[in-house]
Amino acid sequence: MRPRHPDKLEARSGKDSGDIKIVSNTDQHMAMPARMRWLTFFRQWLKNPRSMASVAPSGRQLGALMAAALPSGVRHIVELGAGTGAITDAVVRHGIPQQQLLAVEMNPVLHELLARRFPQLHLAHGDARHLPELVDRSGAFVCGEVDAVLSSLGLLSMPKELQHDILDAAFKVLRAGGVFIQYTYGLTSPLNDEVRQQLGLRSTSVGLAWRNLPPARVFVYTRS
Ligand SMILES: C[S@@+](CC[C@H](N)C(=O)[O-])C[C@H]1O[C@@H](n2cnc3c(N)ncnc32)[C@H](O)[C@@H]1O
Repeated sequence: MRPRHPDKLEARSGKDSGDIKIVSNTDQHMAMPARMRWLTFFRQWLKNPRSMASVAPSGRQLGALMAAALPSGVRHIVELGAGTGAITDAVVRHGIPQQQLLAVEMNPVLHELLARRFPQLHLAHGDARHLPELVDRSGAFVCGEVDAVLSSLGLLSMPKELQHDILDAAFKVLRAGGVFIQYTYGLTSPLNDEVRQQLGLRSTSVGLAWRNLPPARVFVYTRS
């Protein structure tokens, strides 16, 4: 079943109830070559530069840095704004099975690309602000048992209210001690300081992917 409306909650695994749609695993096609993924990403950026937040998919070095920031022994991972799957791919290369990942993507074209590229991935079509609902309805994991949330969302260009809603939603699904991992093209943490304090978060910079276009820094947020 093809996704049509970005506001509609849609998942490929778990329960088939309410407004959830099951995306058929029999509708798999050959994975799209990297050049085509780049072009698809660029076209989506032309249509919606604000939501895409970048002209190109994340590079290998950034993907590896994000994956390396995962704590050892993680079992349940959520990825926000998975796009063309560059970070997803890095996480899988890091040794995490696709079945242990739930990717959330709002853009219907990229959601469909992800479904084709990663046949075993749990996939939700929706807005990261509604993460607890998306996790519940996916049937993949239970809220409060997620070990890590990886985010490619353009936090830096978001109003602080939206930042607050997304981080609040993420920490509702994370277990105690879980981590929120985010990259940014800025020099410092992309999270508004007021929001960070309201949610009681601490941030740590864990590295710079200087070969990425543009270079990107990775931050890990934890709740003290
Ligand atoms: C910088 S791009 C992702 C890049 C990705 N790492 C890649 O390499 O393709 C950000 C992505 O977040 C998605 N996005 C933006 N806002 C979102 C939201 N509120 N909920 C879910 N996805 C969102 C966009 O559609 C876009 O695919």
